[in-house]
Order: sequence, then C-alpha cells, then structure tokens
Amino acid sequence: MPSAVTVHHATKTFPTQRALSNVSFEVQPGERVALIGASGSGKSTLLRSLCGLERLDADSGSVEVFGRQLQGGGRLSADIRALRRQVGIIFQQFNLVGRLPVLTNVLTGLAAEQPLWRTLSRSFPIEAQARALDALASVGLQAHAFQRASTLSGGQQQRAAVARVLLQGARLLLADEPVASLDPESTRRVMDLLLELNRQQGMTLIVSLHNVPLARRYCERAIALRNGALIHDGPTSDLTPQFLEHLYGSAAHELLADGDATDNQTTAPRPACVTVPTRLAEAAIAA
Ligand SMILES: Nc1ncnc2c1ncn2[C@@H]1O[C@H](COP(=O)(O)OP(=O)(O)OP(=O)(O)O)[C@@H](O)[C@H]1O
Ligand SMILES: [Mg+2]
Repeated sequence: MPSAVTVHHATKTFPTQRALSNVSFEVQPGERVALIGASGSGKSTLLRSLCGLERLDADSGSVEVFGRQLQGGGRLSADIRALRRQVGIIFQQFNLVGRLPVLTNVLTGLAAEQPLWRTLSRSFPIEAQARALDALASVGLQAHAFQRASTLSGGQQQRAAVARVLLQGARLLLADEPVASLDPESTRRVMDLLLELNRQQGMTLIVSLHNVPLARRYCERAIALRNGALIHDGPTSDLTPQFLEHLYGSAAHELLADGDATDNQTTAPRPACVTVPTRLAEAAIAA
C-alpha cells in the first residue's frame, strides 16, 4: 500500500524568508501525526503545501499523496483536482461562511465533484443533501443543519468543518491548530471526534498543535519543526519537558503551555465565524 503522504526535500521560500528547509518524511495510512513547533516554525506552510494551497520552491522536492504526485519542482500536478478530494483540511478559524446554513457549508465539500454552477447557486441534488445530513449526524450536529453557521459555537463550527471533510470523502485530514480557539470541553469533543474518525474509518491525521500535552494524548507520532527544518520525528511519548528543552531551548515553554492536555488556551477569545467566503471556500470552488 502506498504511503498516505511522502514529502521529499520540501523547501519553501517567501520573499522575506524561508519557511520550510529541506523537509522530508513519510506518513503511513491510518497514522495520527502531531506537527509541533513554535510560532513561525512552518507548520501551516507545510500543511498548506500538502494539499497544494502552497507551492514549494521550483528547485525543491515533491509531495505525494497516496502514491500520486501532488506537486513537484514548484508545480502542481495536472490531476490536482482529483487528488484534493482525498485531502481534507480544517483550520483554527473554522472557515465556514457564517451567513449560510450549516448544511450548505457542508455541501461545499462536494465542490470538486459538482458542476461549478451548483456550488455557486447552492443548488444541490436531494441525494447530496441527504449525504450532507448524514455527515452532520455523524458529528452530532443534525439538529443544527438549517441554522446559520455563525450561530454555532466554536466547537460546533469545527465539527461542521469536519462534516464537510467527511462529505468530501477525504482519506487524509490535515488540521491546522483545530482546537486553538476552543474551550477545554469543545477541545476534547473535537479531538475525540478526530480520534474516532481515525479509528473507525482509518482516516490519516496530520494535526498541527501548539500544545504538546494534547499531542501526546491524541497522536502516537510527532514531527517537530524549528525555523522551517524538521528537527525530530518520533513517538510523542519522547516529548518530555527535558527533551523539548533540548530541541527548543528557552522556546520550549511555548509548547508545554499548561500541563493539562485539554486545558489549553482557556482565555483565548472565541473567534467569530467568518462572514465572507474564505480561502478554503474559494479553493473548493476553484477546484
Ligand atoms: N504568505 C506569506 N508570505 C510571507 N511570509 C510568510 C507567509 N506565510 C508564512 N510566512 C512566514 O513563514 C514562516 C512560517 O510561517 P507559518 O505560518 O508556516 O508558521 P506556523 O508554524 O504555522 O506558525 P503559527 O504557530 O504562529 O501558526 C513565518 O516566519 C511566517 O512569517
Ligand atoms: Mg500556523
């Protein structure tokens, strides 16, 4: 069976700085991998590169997903559309369109397999709507299907984003700080949901997390970045405070946050649901 993800010598340089430096790793189907690193270490850039939202440098390596090249030599593959269907991504800021019903937001997960006019006119066949309702039911949100997305709590919005990924039929889920804006109880529910998807459906997970206790609790493997370079790849059980200090020096405290695995960022404000189509929605529509 091919690897879920193969990254060969990934380098990404922005005009002002290098965000990824020669990063290589493989992830097998069904693995749960935490991507850790201090702020600015390259986690989001890496995740965005894995689904083709970011192009690597032209003289850089490649990204393969389930054995097929997604990008290489700074170019996205010709069959990027088909590949993207297999890769779901959720973000810290939920990326739902707040003024639209939850169900419609979930239905945008089908953008890649529907004609563009259906997505733009939000006219989806009954069969697709039934599948979207099933996806919402599986994340415990069937009762909220016809509410505006902006009226959901942060945790509910994140679960709706997961439902969209389910409807899309993704086999690989990239989650970029999916719980950083959530209270402890919502954090637990969202992380438990990701764990359940992994265990019951074999969904491969790559989750960037600031909070190492959370990474240890939910993932068996950690990839650690520092200044865009991969500095450690191994079991999350290795991530002791002493080891993190060895890897990160004085920056280690940022990753250890609070000691409690689900008590992260209790004081973070709950961000409002976005009210305009976001980059994800744009990407889905463009796909
Ligand atoms: N579009 C961009 N243009 C220029 N520089 C960028 C861009 N996106 C990211 N960077 C830079 O690349 C580096 C890595 O950023 P990235 O967002 O990947 O880090 P991160 O690990 O996700 O950080 P955080 O934990 O704060 O989300 C940072 O120095 C950032 O300023
Ligand atoms: Mg980030």
